[in-house]
Amino acid sequence: MALPSRDGVILACLLLLCAVAHAIDTLSTSNDTYGASSDTPWQTYQSAPRLKPPELLVTKAEQGLEDGLVFVGINGEPGSTQNVPCIFDMSLGPRMGSLVWTGLDYTEPFDFKVQSYKGLPHLTFWAGQLMNGYGHGSYYILDRSYALVANFTPPGFPEGGDVHEFTITANDTALIDIYSPKQADLTSIGGASDGWIFDCIFQEVDITTNQTVFTWSAFDHVDLTESYNNVSGAGTQSSPFDYFHINSVYKDPAGDYLVSARVMDTVYKISGKDGSIMWRMNGKKSDFQIDDAAKFAFQHDARWINDTTQTRLTLFDNGATGTAKYSRGLLLDVDQTFKTVKLVTEFANGPRTFAQFEGNLQPINASSETTNYFIGFGSQPFFTETSSNGSILLDAKFSKTNQVNSYRAYKFPWVGSPTTNPDIAYTKDEAKAYFSWNGATEVENWVVYTADMANSPAFVNITTAYRTGFETEVDLSKVAGLKNLVRGEAISGDGTSLGWTDATDGTSFFTVEDATGLKRAAESATPTMITATPSPTNGAASLSATSNPVWALVVAMSVGLIMFA
Ligand SMILES: *[C@@H]1O[C@H](CO)[C@@H](O)[C@H](O)[C@H]1NC(C)=O
Ligand SMILES: *[C@@H]1O[C@H](CO)[C@@H](O)[C@H](O)[C@H]1NC(C)=O
Ligand SMILES: *[C@@H]1O[C@H](CO)[C@@H](O)[C@H](O)[C@H]1NC(C)=O
Ligand SMILES: *[C@@H]1O[C@H](CO)[C@@H](O)[C@H](O)[C@H]1NC(C)=O
Ligand SMILES: *[C@@H]1O[C@H](CO)[C@@H](O)[C@H](O)[C@H]1NC(C)=O
Ligand SMILES: *[C@@H]1O[C@H](CO)[C@@H](O)[C@H](O)[C@H]1NC(C)=O
Ligand SMILES: *[C@@H]1O[C@H](CO)[C@@H](O)[C@H](O)[C@H]1NC(C)=O
Repeated sequence: MALPSRDGVILACLLLLCAVAHAIDTLSTSNDTYGASSDTPWQTYQSAPRLKPPELLVTKAEQGLEDGLVFVGINGEPGSTQNVPCIFDMSLGPRMGSLVWTGLDYTEPFDFKVQSYKGLPHLTFWAGQLMNGYGHGSYYILDRSYALVANFTPPGFPEGGDVHEFTITANDTALIDIYSPKQADLTSIGGASDGWIFDCIFQEVDITTNQTVFTWSAFDHVDLTESYNNVSGAGTQSSPFDYFHINSVYKDPAGDYLVSARVMDTVYKISGKDGSIMWRMNGKKSDFQIDDAAKFAFQHDARWINDTTQTRLTLFDNGATGTAKYSRGLLLDVDQTFKTVKLVTEFANGPRTFAQFEGNLQPINASSETTNYFIGFGSQPFFTETSSNGSILLDAKFSKTNQVNSYRAYKFPWVGSPTTNPDIAYTKDEAKAYFSWNGATEVENWVVYTADMANSPAFVNITTAYRTGFETEVDLSKVAGLKNLVRGEAISGDGTSLGWTDATDGTSFFTVEDATGLKRAAESATPTMITATPSPTNGAASLSATSNPVWALVVAMSVGLIMFA
């Protein structure tokens, strides 16, 4: 087991003067101590005090990981302000387990991932109000600068769309789903003749015109008696019977849809021409002969590896509570002519986690036979990466209990370049500077500049520090030439200047408004900063003072348990 050393220091001696950079991001590697003081260990930062992503426990991390960043939509802890989308760097080395981006504007995100929209990679997710096993919300698309480019609800459903699916097709349409209460005769399943069900609807929506291209309703096509769910206690207007529980929809190039329904134990192929069911896989009315090893229950996230050839399908087999020893990802061989299903590979994590709800299996590069797979354990706070044969390369956990979890977890390549400025904190007594930049993926080094208040234009480069993670601490106590103002410049791997922090003396922050040999700093963007009166201008450069960030932002946490179907 090769784990990166988090206590190790990185010496960046690119110049004559050296600075010692420490990782501020925290990571646990011991199951014994993880969560010793809290069931939900968080990471915090000096330069970004409002952010509080989960601290990760990594119990395995080996060579052979696929390139890319890890995407989780944090749910749980009702009342917390930290139910937000998070991107983590899980590459081997000093940045393992460090935050890359978190979006505080979006709560209870589901299905947070990277998808192509208008030919470019975008961040996409659902956010809104979580109900009991479904949701009322809308769908978000952000570009690589984290700007919102689209936000929509399903046409005809003003209460909002559901959490379970948001996939953008090759034609830039969106596949989304809706849990829609409907009156129904439930006598065939032992309920009332005037009962209520959740109809599970999926729509294909043209994102740009906001028009529905296709709508499908489970209740129009699937009988109540096909369900494994029990009506007992449900079936009323206040508690409609969730007989189908749709949780994934994908569309193939022939125009047909693949739908997973949890409490039917079934994957359906739906005709794009008329909505008829082309076949059922597994469940009470299976059209397929399924090998025992390939049988699944309460599954999620059924999709073709290649939706043109349609010979291999992946899904997350949650398994039945009390029967299944653990939940597993399945790669299945599917013969649609002879209607057979065989197991190719099973994927599990080291602790053999059983996830009663949610979860997903992602072939990280579906074009490659030898791709690694990424598995999210849904209602349990685990994710794992395996090689194509299922051998585990990465095992991670992001909460001690399932008070914090993520509907799905993915790995994707992602380049983010935020329009905000990078952030700085500085403790004058210790001469320690802290740098971070929420969402910036290209920063390799932080260059530290200093100047006298009385001579502000003459910012001098005093040292360079390797970026150790989300936040980099730079000890300036032994760096020669330190003056009372400090600021940082973010530099890419090829030396390009990406952005500048404000200048600070540890008490106030200053926007450098004149270049004079330096690059001009844009508007101050330290998110917690309160704008105050400008200080007197000085020489060629003009510095505007702003007051202290709110360092001690206390986030009240209410402890609660979210169980989500
Ligand atoms: C961590 O320890 C707990 C209790 O000892 C055990 O149940 C769990 O499986 C362990 N998890 C991992 C990731 O090893
Ligand atoms: C899209 O349709 C929904 C529901 O009909 C409506 O509320 C929304 O305003 C529409 N958005 C646009 C951009 O037309
Ligand atoms: C429904 O009830 C039956 C019989 O009690 C039980 O075997 C089955 O597991 C229940 N199904 C669900 C989804 O709870
Ligand atoms: C994309 O549009 C083409 C042309 O209308 C159609 O044939 C194809 O099925 C569509 N593909 C998807 C995935 O929607
Ligand atoms: C799917 O298979 C077809 C036919 O073999 C191939 O042309 C295509 O590139 C494959 N798609 C992907 C995404 O690998
Ligand atoms: C995915 O795999 C294909 C086939 O091996 C390869 O051509 C392509 O470069 C890979 N994509 C990435 C992003 O690694
Ligand atoms: C599985 O793949 C890994 C990495 O490609 C390899 O090291 C290992 O030997 C393989 N295991 C088996 C059982 O084939």
